Amino acid sequence: MLLAVQPYPTTVDRSPAVVLRGPPLTAARTDRQDGRMRAAWYERQGPAEDVLEVGTMPSPEPAAGEVRVRLTVSGVNPGDLKKRQGWLGSAMPYRRVVPHSDGAGVIDVVGPGVDPTRVGRRVWVYGAQSYRQFGTAAEATVVPESLAVDLPDSVDDELGASLGIPGITAHRAVYADGPVAGRVVLVHGVLGAVGGMAARLAHRGGATVVGTVRRASDLADVPRDVVQHAVVLDASDPAAEIRAAAPGGVDRVIEVALSANADLDAEVARQGSVIAAYSSPADRPALPFWPLLFANVTLRLLGSDDFPRDAKQHAVRDLTEAAADGGLSVRVAARYPLGDIAAAHKAVESGIHNGRVLVTLP
Ligand SMILES: NC(=O)c1ccc[n+]([C@@H]2O[C@H](COP(=O)([O-])OP(=O)(O)OC[C@H]3O[C@@H](n4cnc5c(N)ncnc54)[C@H](OP(=O)(O)O)[C@@H]3O)[C@@H](O)[C@H]2O)c1
Repeated sequence: MLLAVQPYPTTVDRSPAVVLRGPPLTAARTDRQDGRMRAAWYERQGPAEDVLEVGTMPSPEPAAGEVRVRLTVSGVNPGDLKKRQGWLGSAMPYRRVVPHSDGAGVIDVVGPGVDPTRVGRRVWVYGAQSYRQFGTAAEATVVPESLAVDLPDSVDDELGASLGIPGITAHRAVYADGPVAGRVVLVHGVLGAVGGMAARLAHRGGATVVGTVRRASDLADVPRDVVQHAVVLDASDPAAEIRAAAPGGVDRVIEVALSANADLDAEVARQGSVIAAYSSPADRPALPFWPLLFANVTLRLLGSDDFPRDAKQHAVRDLTEAAADGGLSVRVAARYPLGDIAAAHKAVESGIHNGRVLVTLP
């Protein structure tokens, strides 16, 4: 997550932007002959409806080692909203930001040094707005070529646009501490974007997956082909249910809500287990220190923007392979045209659950 301390030089876009306001735009794509594209951006942080603008701006041109991707889908992640909101005091890292890091589309231009046969290839994109200014909420984005990954024919663009932040975070949460074959992996919030990917990756890796949801009404949506035991957290004794599924305790916990679940996690941990936490409702979670200590638990905290490079590359390989052979899927909750990007952000903010929110490009 890019916060107030910006280690990268700020670049200023002084190009005149034609800002289109009013009703959502559904017109055909901007004519690329004029060197411009439709995009969404913000130039100050704040509520979606106040700061997100949709208009045209110059199409980005790839520099050496970069590719330009003509996008079909842009994935909205909670982290995109946090950057736009100024979460934890984060400042604007650039004068203008085109949001969203994840997407899918087709490479239409390559920069010097990039294999020209990549032009025309379908790709999934990650990290487009991680320490970078112009993300995927646009008709095109430019990224270093390694961030545009060939998309197998069998994988649709919507899944491709969901592999980035959720997939890479899930992969590291599951695999940072070694293989999971024969292990029990507890995935909290198993219907979430990261949780869903984590459950599928853990299952694919040979683990027994125990998945939690907060409400009994969500049980029907739990994918039983990968989640062997589904537990409702609002039930009277979820720890007992998890223990019944894993009498020896769980080996790994993939944690979306550390402050909410720390006591439960301590109750079900086995000796030497790992809690891999990627989010927490409270900034300063209270931990049951002694139970965690007696179980020799490792607390692994995950910040996906800054995962080691080799971990990201490992994740990218595994995710692409898993997607290709049908081992991953995504449930789409809602699709919005680019002109309705503020509504897409508000849908994610409102806590829409059980699916991804996507922005579609014409
Ligand atoms: N650290 C990182 O690098 C990183 C990477 C990706 C995401 N994140 C963060 O992780 C969070 C989730 O991201 P996401 O994209 O997966 O969001 P998402 O698709 O909205 O999924 C969140 C899931 O967590 C569930 N949940 C919420 N509170 C829970 C609790 N106390 N116990 C169990 N499950 C709970 C939600 O269930 P309900 O539907 O019942 O609310 C939902 O299923 C966000 O805060 C995001 O910013 C961090």
